Amino acid sequence: MEIIQVKGKVSESTIIVGESILNLSKYIPSKGVFIITDENVDKLYSDKFSNFPKFVVKAGEASKNLLSTSEIYRWLLDAGADRSSFVVGIGGGVVCDIAGFVASTYMRGVEFGFVATSLLAQVDASVGGKNGVDLDGYKNIVGTFNQPKFVICDTSMLKTLPAVELSNGFAEMVKHCLIADANDFSFMEENIGKLMNRDVDVITHLVAKSVRIKASIVTADEHEKGERKKLNLGHTWGHAVEKILSLPHGQSVSIGLEFSARLSAEKGLLEKRDYMRLMNLLRELQLPICTSINPLHIFDALTKDKKKIDDSIDFILMKGIGNVVIERLQLNEIKNFIEH
Ligand code: GLY
Repeated sequence: MEIIQVKGKVSESTIIVGESILNLSKYIPSKGVFIITDENVDKLYSDKFSNFPKFVVKAGEASKNLLSTSEIYRWLLDAGADRSSFVVGIGGGVVCDIAGFVASTYMRGVEFGFVATSLLAQVDASVGGKNGVDLDGYKNIVGTFNQPKFVICDTSMLKTLPAVELSNGFAEMVKHCLIADANDFSFMEENIGKLMNRDVDVITHLVAKSVRIKASIVTADEHEKGERKKLNLGHTWGHAVEKILSLPHGQSVSIGLEFSARLSAEKGLLEKRDYMRLMNLLRELQLPICTSINPLHIFDALTKDKKKIDDSIDFILMKGIGNVVIERLQLNEIKNFIEH
């Protein structure tokens, strides 16, 4: 088991990698606990949290909106939740986002924690304190910065994860290695077979590494004024892909990583050899690296990104494996790159 701290401005978060959901009671108050989960997790694991009142959302990104959060506020109110209540989100990225957002806004905020059940949630969505919901299909338009008290990453729960969900998490793991850890990039390359076979030790090692990378970046720059922007590697293009094609998040990020690597190579920042290594790793992890759609459609969605500043956008480019830079690019420059 590994314990990793995220130190936010007003609160701290403790991430426990390798902890079991069976020990949830060690981390929560003895009363006033409300669970938010989704139908998939509820089906498989409801016996592990049957003592608590629960709200079950439909699985999938479509639930991450203000309509479902309004339903949860009403449920909390009817169930007698007050400022001293404690919300626990048990699920993947969507559940963590919904639960974190609801807890941060219900009665101006109650404490909350997560049991992250998907690989994507364990390495990314549960860590960092951003809690948001989508608006009109655009991701995370409404949200808060607020750290969960705890995150339990129970890697034994990954054995029931659908294969596509597993590779979604791998995309975020690869992203973290690209940002800060060339050794773990090699470790992933050397352990493809074990990763695909869900070897708990190898996955737990890499989950902890990913969480450490993210925790240290978030601790340095919780509100994304500078350094934290690096975590958007693959996401600027990836979010636009997700919006247009409704692909799963990790697959969209994988396509976004390819775009960023190709742009970095074009600008002379990334060696062709490293571009090829990345493509091979993504392919072996069963992640897509391109789409058949006209990239100008994706570009249109990119121009509506919430991180756009006038006619430019901060893009994360690769200078090698384990080394990225933040570059403000004119939208026209990106359009030219696509067209030529
Ligand atoms: N909750 C995800 C993040 O803060 O990045």
